[in-house]
Amino acid sequence: MTPTLGQTILDHASALARFSDMEDGLTCAFLTPAHRATQAQLVKWMEDAGMQVRIDAIGNVIGRYAADPAVTEPKVLMTGSHFDTVRNGGRYDGRLGILLPIVVVHALNVAGIRLPYHFDIVGFAEEEGLRFKTSFLASSVLAGRFDEALLDREDADGITMRDALGAAAFPGAADPAALRAAAVDPATLAGFVEVHIEQGPVLLNRGLPLGIVTQIAGSSRFQVRVEGLASHAGTTPMDMRRDAATGAAEMTLLVESRCAQVPTLVGTVGQLQVPNGSSNVIPGACVFSMDIRAGEDGIREAAIADILAGIQSIAARRGLTATVDRVTPVNNAPCARWLMDQLGAVLKKRGLEAFELPSGAGHDAMMMQRITDVAMLFVRCGNGGISHNPLETITAEDAQLAAETFVDFLRHFRADRTN
Ligand code: GLV
Ligand code: MN
Ligand code: MN
Repeated sequence: MTPTLGQTILDHASALARFSDMEDGLTCAFLTPAHRATQAQLVKWMEDAGMQVRIDAIGNVIGRYAADPAVTEPKVLMTGSHFDTVRNGGRYDGRLGILLPIVVVHALNVAGIRLPYHFDIVGFAEEEGLRFKTSFLASSVLAGRFDEALLDREDADGITMRDALGAAAFPGAADPAALRAAAVDPATLAGFVEVHIEQGPVLLNRGLPLGIVTQIAGSSRFQVRVEGLASHAGTTPMDMRRDAATGAAEMTLLVESRCAQVPTLVGTVGQLQVPNGSSNVIPGACVFSMDIRAGEDGIREAAIADILAGIQSIAARRGLTATVDRVTPVNNAPCARWLMDQLGAVLKKRGLEAFELPSGAGHDAMMMQRITDVAMLFVRCGNGGISHNPLETITAEDAQLAAETFVDFLRHFRADRTN
């Protein structure tokens, strides 16, 4: 294998990072001009790598490296990750899991190596939920789990998903029947294996370049609207206020204290706003997001029950109302042992530790796990493991090792679940 695979992956990530919704950083929200430019670039790279490429009804870019023609009724091994980002995010979250396999396929194609199965790479159009506050939007289409009610959901500018998709004009975009038809037939799949930057410090602290994921923590997201009474900041005595923001602050602290009670539980209020607030007006409304995750669904659900009850009692005590809108929760997704073992075998053959770790971050593999067996290969995250941040980084050496390991995995892959 050419030693420049790793550097090519980093160069591609830099090239994609130039398509951004913001000037001094990387934001790539669903169906913005930057998102469309990213999508078009992925199509081109997949075609250059020797793949047949199509865009589905939600905007996923799907490239196929066709099986060796001598193989009858080949199965499909699928890989991929998302190309949207969080606001001011990193350039590897999601994109590494598209770019690495593209570069790998390019190398296989140049070497004239065909695989005994179709190898599909999916650039998932949306995973982060930035524009429409969804979760796993694009993979839900492929997994046949798309919630059609989402077509009416509006972004911050009041544009519905239906209109945004209609304007994008993918084949079948915004047509519920076409979105349903875009689901893959699970019977055709041999499995789904996603490569992703770890987004945490575990591999870095252990001095390991790669790791194998055991399970992906389940997550629940909410939007909470607290209503109080807007009134004069100078004339309303402290004991006569119905301040929505101080109520939301107490609710935020409740999320923190409840989630600190269990080591695998995490809770985050990542958005907190006083709509139309003024410095001299007591906040009449406050809206905030909650993101709650745990490796075990029961632990997450127990925390959610306590937090939702606590929010109502804080609201009642303060003379406020709190309305909670639940975004689709996703349960914990275990990875398949037979796929993990095949990844482990190739790591060991290279003299690397087959280190296993759970994922606290959500991934497209979670949704794909609803229809097929999944596994994930994590690549070490630099800079102390920081992610969802422009400081997110990987090295060319680690990308090279991950690419070579992935080649070994593909060349040894057996779909019959025996190792
Ligand atoms: C996706 O990045 C998530 O875990 O929120
Ligand atoms: Mn992310
Ligand atoms: Mn990601």
